[in-house]
Amino acid sequence: MAGEVLQLRGVGVRREGATLLRDVTWTVNENERWVVVGPNGAGKTTLLQVAGALLHPTEGSVEILEEELGRTDVFELRPRIGVASSAVAEKVPTGETVLDLVLTGSYAILGRWQEEYESTDLARAIELLEALGCADLVKRRFSTLSEGERKRVQIARALMPDPELLLLDEPAAGLDLGGREDLVRRLGILADDPAAPTTVMVTHHVEEVPEGFTHALLLRKGQVVASGKVDEVFTPEHLTECFGVPLSIDRQNGRWYARAAY
Ligand SMILES: Nc1ncnc2c1ncn2[C@@H]1O[C@H](COP(=O)(O)OP(=O)(O)OP(=O)(O)O)[C@@H](O)[C@H]1O
Ligand SMILES: [Mg+2]
Repeated sequence: MAGEVLQLRGVGVRREGATLLRDVTWTVNENERWVVVGPNGAGKTTLLQVAGALLHPTEGSVEILEEELGRTDVFELRPRIGVASSAVAEKVPTGETVLDLVLTGSYAILGRWQEEYESTDLARAIELLEALGCADLVKRRFSTLSEGERKRVQIARALMPDPELLLLDEPAAGLDLGGREDLVRRLGILADDPAAPTTVMVTHHVEEVPEGFTHALLLRKGQVVASGKVDEVFTPEHLTECFGVPLSIDRQNGRWYARAAY
């Protein structure tokens, strides 16, 4: 169906007797910007792996970019999806340069596999690194970067193939206050760009949700607590249920702030 980027119906994921996701039904339409929020262990990364065609669910059906998981060649599907997560970062070979890591994002692979790239690819890689404020890192080895620098490089890599779907798993985790605010601002600019891909970002903190994000899904213990338009989902009731502590939430100049409500 036109406009649907993700369609999950009754998705469950079980591993070694544990239920990681239970009965998740979720639709993401073209050009929406989603944030997935929930406590540690809620199943956010698992959900993103399903959305990225990296994990097949135990039950339910998944359509990604109008291809049904299980009936499509995931190796053709994966290059259409940009993924930035620490799970990818951990697999980067030692010695890999920032430039090579971003360039290989075009092929959804790790490790440089051919010596020559098109000069247009090279120009795009540098342009993306510039847009994320890290063009000066281009010749560095990825393994020598700080946490914040790594996050930005990973986002540049995820954007490299001009994906139709962009998945970001905790892009602001490990960043200092200035770095977080800078990244949130850059993600806000991306969210406002109509040419930018449909985006799903995972975070623990509503303070990290950039302006321009349109929808939210709250997860707790593998189940959806609420999902829909961000201002309808981000209520004290939903957040309290999601995190299991009494919470209040405010919005100021397009940004969200949550506090314990004791
Ligand atoms: N192979 C496995 N076997 C059993 N349990 C697993 C397995 N893989 C993950 N889990 C559990 O599934 C739950 C969901 O994991 P997931 O990584 O999706 O959570 P998360 O919401 O991303 O958490 P965090 O905020 O800490 O990143 C966790 O409790 C985790 O321990
Ligand atoms: Mg996670």
